[in-house]
Amino acid sequence: MAIVYNPEKRTISLHTAKTTYQMKIGNLNYVKHLYYGATIPDEDLIYLVRRYDRGFSGNPYDSLAERTFSLDAQPQEFTTQQQGDFRINSIEVQNADGSFSFNGRYKSHRIYHGAFTLNGLPTAFAAENDTVDTLELVIEDAVTKVQVTLLYSVFEEADIIMRAARVHNAGNAAIQLKRIMSVNMDYMNGRNLDLLSLPGRYGQERQVERQPLTHHVHKIRSGRGISSHQQNPFIALMDRNTNEDAGACYGFALMYSGSFLAEVELDQYDQARLVMGINDRLFNYTVNPGEDFDAPAVLMTYTHKGLAKMSHNFHHFFRNNLNRSKFVRDVQRPILINTWEAAFFNFDDQKLVEIAKAAKDMGVEMIVMDDGWFGKRDDDNSGLGDWVVNENKIRCGLTELVRQINDLGMKFGIWFEPEMVSEDSDLFRAHPDWVMEIPGRRAVRSRNQLVLDVGRKEVQDYLIESINRILDSANIYYVKWDINRAITDLWSNVLPADRQGEVTHRYVLGLYRIMDGIIKTHPDILFEGCAGGGGRFDPAMLTYFIQYWSSDNTKPLDNLKLHYGSSFLYPICTMGAHVSAASPMVPLETKAAIAMCGTFGYELDATKLKKKEIRACKKMSDLYHKYYDLNFFGDYYRLANPFEQVNLVAWESVSKDKCEALVTVVTVNLTVNGPQEYIHCKGLSPNTRYHLQGGGYDLVISGMALMHAGIPIPREVPEFSAFLYHIQALDE
Ligand code: GLA
Repeated sequence: MAIVYNPEKRTISLHTAKTTYQMKIGNLNYVKHLYYGATIPDEDLIYLVRRYDRGFSGNPYDSLAERTFSLDAQPQEFTTQQQGDFRINSIEVQNADGSFSFNGRYKSHRIYHGAFTLNGLPTAFAAENDTVDTLELVIEDAVTKVQVTLLYSVFEEADIIMRAARVHNAGNAAIQLKRIMSVNMDYMNGRNLDLLSLPGRYGQERQVERQPLTHHVHKIRSGRGISSHQQNPFIALMDRNTNEDAGACYGFALMYSGSFLAEVELDQYDQARLVMGINDRLFNYTVNPGEDFDAPAVLMTYTHKGLAKMSHNFHHFFRNNLNRSKFVRDVQRPILINTWEAAFFNFDDQKLVEIAKAAKDMGVEMIVMDDGWFGKRDDDNSGLGDWVVNENKIRCGLTELVRQINDLGMKFGIWFEPEMVSEDSDLFRAHPDWVMEIPGRRAVRSRNQLVLDVGRKEVQDYLIESINRILDSANIYYVKWDINRAITDLWSNVLPADRQGEVTHRYVLGLYRIMDGIIKTHPDILFEGCAGGGGRFDPAMLTYFIQYWSSDNTKPLDNLKLHYGSSFLYPICTMGAHVSAASPMVPLETKAAIAMCGTFGYELDATKLKKKEIRACKKMSDLYHKYYDLNFFGDYYRLANPFEQVNLVAWESVSKDKCEALVTVVTVNLTVNGPQEYIHCKGLSPNTRYHLQGGGYDLVISGMALMHAGIPIPREVPEFSAFLYHIQALDE
């Protein structure tokens, strides 16, 4: 059993293969957090907590004269409210009498096999052969009978713990939940911790920032109703000297697609506290007697082997435990061409067939009909919401068009933006009250579209029904599911005034229900997510979409940064990446090498390519297939950081058995007559002899040489050249 309760010491230890997490039911039944780190046996770690009389950090009433017992100065598993702990807190509740108070103490716990699930929210599951055990620990406020169940599923082999919190109102009066975090993590010594996050913006998602903790609250958040381009629901905390290869490192990824919050506080005693969950801004949820409120799951991992290992833990888990689609492993994903950057809104059935014909010679296996095929949609001012085929454009009808594409030996994909509506649409004319617009005000427009009140059941049912009708009308292999604006004007016409604070979260729950009704009922369709690029690329979305369009920015050099940043959490097989006509100065081969650090496809008008270019694409498409397993299932290493002043950017995929690797190098700044550059491989087996091919090399050399001495990169080469080094163990 990965979870051990010691009834005598009242400790509970959670063990993954290489980590231990310990809590203790301590004095006055407060649950203390004692440890998260490398494996330790089941001994009581309470000796770590020293108590002093700390001025201005008060003592709970029943600690009586014990002036050293202050919640402000001790590590907690979950916080109280107004019990003298002044740090950031994990819960804020307003009780029926108007008071803001929660004094949660241990009530009970249970341990069982398997992973927990949440009401209406996605969670990770135990894959075949996984050992997974769950702890549910209940703390309760004795006065109000408000309970919080802390949930921990321990994925032993994966070194991942999934956490969440469930509020249950066991009292007899309604409460207002103002804030509920999914995780609270206290560090007794946070002085030397760094915080890494993935900020960005539209077109430049998931860049990387690392900063030391200082004595204030560091806040990483989205308030945009979607997890956002601007921040990703992921942070890592690590020792100041942690690097890619060594050092203690904690990763936290929230499985939620709406407005989120992560806060880290370094307090007066150099303790650090991290909380993560739903953003409490514009949030207020009524929980009636007998009701539950589930906060979303957080995935956590720890390693002392540096950032690469933290990423490997997440990558492995994301590939195995989030999504059951057959496209994760059993069926290779086809190379696609998307019509967006090829034609925007300007296409008809003929044009699609022409693109498909030309693309076939490039090794493309599927054409995706992007925005513009439905309703009255000739630009982005109209038509959203009307999920019926526009037969002025698709004159032969969808079923027939797909048949023609299939006859070419190609598959067919289609685009939707379900959550939105244009004012100029039949849907809006029929149901103007279905949008989010605060009475007496005009809602903010963005891309000239409005947001449907997705929390409403009739809106959900309309979308499920109208989209499924299209999906079932033709042989559709793939869907791109988009959202192209942030959410404002939170309002629902079906909720009373005192429940409008629920709209933000109900939207997310409604969205998951729609996705359950469309995605989970079509297991043979490959679904890719999109939010004006990667504006809602998050772990929860990956339980529905096995891949996510990384960015609307298809410039290859920008994508070097984007892939690098994304790779801290997300594996290559989840990152949508296409070769496009952007950045004509970058050779096609380099664009393809960069797109291969993702799900690979094309985003251009194939009918306009020269024969030579078509042949070059075909070669690259073949390489994508050749290296599919290596790239999608191997261990990914970041070899050079594009955010630093580097002359090369490089990355590597190594097969699990270390018998094969692929190193990709892109020259970004090779000055005339400059120094020789080297790239050092990682993750190979030192004593194995490898056959190295590529970049002008064809030689046999040891893993040790490749890792410690490196590979010299040719330098008198055209600008932005890319090199692929294939490394294969010799069968000696
Ligand atoms: C978003 C997507 C693009 C494309 C357009 C269509 O911006 O990210 O790839 O689908 O919408 O409107």
